[in-house]
Amino acid sequence: MKIKLYNKIAACGLAQFPSTYEVGADFDNENGIVVRSADLHEVAFPDTLMGIARAGAGVNNIPLDKCTEKGIVVVNTPGANARAVIELCLAGLFLASRKIEDGAEWTKTLAGRDDALKVVEKEKSRFAGPEIFGKTLGVVGLGAIGGGVANAAVALGMKVLGYDPFVSVDAAWHLDPAVEKTEDLDKIFRDCDYISVHVPSLPATRGMICKANLAKMKDGVRILNLARADLVVDEDVIEGLESGKIAAYFTDFPTGKLAGHDGVIGTPHLGASTPEAEDNCAVMACAQLTDFLENGNIKNSVNMPAVHLGRAEANRVGIFYRAEAEVDANLQKLVFGARKAGATKGGVSYLLCESENEFDTDKIKAVEGVIRVTSY
Ligand code: MLT
Repeated sequence: MKIKLYNKIAACGLAQFPSTYEVGADFDNENGIVVRSADLHEVAFPDTLMGIARAGAGVNNIPLDKCTEKGIVVVNTPGANARAVIELCLAGLFLASRKIEDGAEWTKTLAGRDDALKVVEKEKSRFAGPEIFGKTLGVVGLGAIGGGVANAAVALGMKVLGYDPFVSVDAAWHLDPAVEKTEDLDKIFRDCDYISVHVPSLPATRGMICKANLAKMKDGVRILNLARADLVVDEDVIEGLESGKIAAYFTDFPTGKLAGHDGVIGTPHLGASTPEAEDNCAVMACAQLTDFLENGNIKNSVNMPAVHLGRAEANRVGIFYRAEAEVDANLQKLVFGARKAGATKGGVSYLLCESENEFDTDKIKAVEGVIRVTSY
């Protein structure tokens, strides 16, 4: 198998691949791709490509529809870098409150002055800012990161309101009972002193921090975005900062329009930039890709269903097909008697079959509606 790397991936992740794999940045006809932030939208994928592993959570750098059409599995690593992003978000809460950045920058101007401490006492009121204790934080998106931020904020004495119409049972179990859940996003906009967004970039979420929603917020709201740049409308945030509607905007995605603007505190997409998160993501991404390439098992895919049939021990075939009853019925006849696991996601079904007998893959491929067939 050939694995193409589009970014630097931690060595402990690459160690997940069997020693027979060729792993590198410079070849064609790869079977798998591992990527962090490189943009794959304009990349022409070879027919040999079976799976893409994103070492991270967001997948907006991967053309998902194109992958699904070609039967290419895209997996990500939910939760693997959550701790790192949560910690930066907590730093963001304090930075958005206490003018730490402005104060630290100003402090540099005192270098060498004998009266520095005197000047400090005279000027410090310029850098005053509120405590977070007792304030209300709204968390939009209660996945591994948003849920962790919500819990940590409770521990720091904040009141926390959480909104997530798609929260998983597992994520809900991990939430501190003090986190008040709401099904009304406007309540978050209306009632919170701080709002932190932790949702993927999707048509429904893009531009959610916009003029219309800002108008619902408290004057002097502080907004945090460690998720994706396009969740906010830059011009509207700038207008909000200039009018005083927004007291501070902390972002890990400083666009050219926002960087350097008064009230914007930016970091260069540092959320997951800890050695621990990079290792966790790399190990999870490469292990999941290996399990798919070796056994056909799919876990944490964003475009294909999760299916698990253990390690391949006999003839095994994986079939992606249009999720239609007729296609399924025609395929079931061809894999009759085999051990199977299957599931459907969106419009695509996946059937993983194992048998002591050989599968007639030509016949399987010929079934109308079959997208891709792989023998293991
Ligand atoms: C993520 O999507 O996991 C984070 O934004 C961090 C990253 O892109 O590496």
